[in-house]
Amino acid sequence: MKRFSAGVRDSGVVVTVPTMGALHRGHVELLKIGRRSGDCLILTIFVNPAQFGPGEDFSAYPRGLEKDLKVAEEAGVDVVFNPTVEQMYGRDFKTYVEVEDLSKKLCGLSRTRHFRGVATVVLKLFNITMCHKAVFGMKDFQQLQVIKRMVRDLNLDVEIIGAETVRDNDGLAVSSRNAYLSVKERRAASAIPRALFEARKNVGAGMGESASIVEGIKKILATERLLNPEYVKVCDPETLEDLDSVDPEKGALIAVAVKAGRTRLIDNVLV
Ligand code: PAJ
Repeated sequence: MKRFSAGVRDSGVVVTVPTMGALHRGHVELLKIGRRSGDCLILTIFVNPAQFGPGEDFSAYPRGLEKDLKVAEEAGVDVVFNPTVEQMYGRDFKTYVEVEDLSKKLCGLSRTRHFRGVATVVLKLFNITMCHKAVFGMKDFQQLQVIKRMVRDLNLDVEIIGAETVRDNDGLAVSSRNAYLSVKERRAASAIPRALFEARKNVGAGMGESASIVEGIKKILATERLLNPEYVKVCDPETLEDLDSVDPEKGALIAVAVKAGRTRLIDNVLV
């Protein structure tokens, strides 16, 4: 992979789109942005064990390389990098990237080593694909911020491009994990975007107190018995620190993690 990238990066812009596969419309959107942002488009597919905690879904995570390769071809991907766990972490792996503070907020509260696994694998993928640019989705807003921070703090020469969240017709953010949902859970899950959009509307109409925003969201989520919120937060979009009220200048990130049955879903809106 490095030999290939070293050969093309002097004569053109290399763009990498890191994924864990099970490609869906959200990933395709990132690939479209990647395609028009450079000359050589690299898709990485790697289900990264370092970002899954004990008891999480590493072994169950959906995998389907053949279909993914078709999607990649249709999206105009030049190279798919699909390493094995052994290739990425073999031979006594000992070095991890820890983005302090940011990694401990929101999803980091319950997934304590998740973002260190993400930052580590993303830095490895940047080094291996030698990309000038990389595209990430705003659906995983905290991940995007962690990566931007790593790039800044470690002086990486990679431009990070953020892409809007792709949603289903009822507003639910498209996700590989939606495949785990039963029909009833999938129906209930539409309350997640409904609650977030309602909150965004209320903030637009002048509701700025975080407590009322959170309460409004929880009320809508509570109409669905199958949904169990893990967190509902109004926070600073950059530091992810809790805000007492929406900052009219900087705005705010409203972020939620909700269990639908046993499936953990995340979503957010910027207001
Ligand atoms: P994965 O969940 O496969 O997501 C790959 C990329 O697709 C991420 O940047 C994610 O934010 C983006 N994405 C997922 N759903 C989206 C949607 N509905 N709309 C727009 N973008 C969406 O995120 C990971 O993999 C991993 O943590 C990874 C960065 C690859 C490191 O292992």
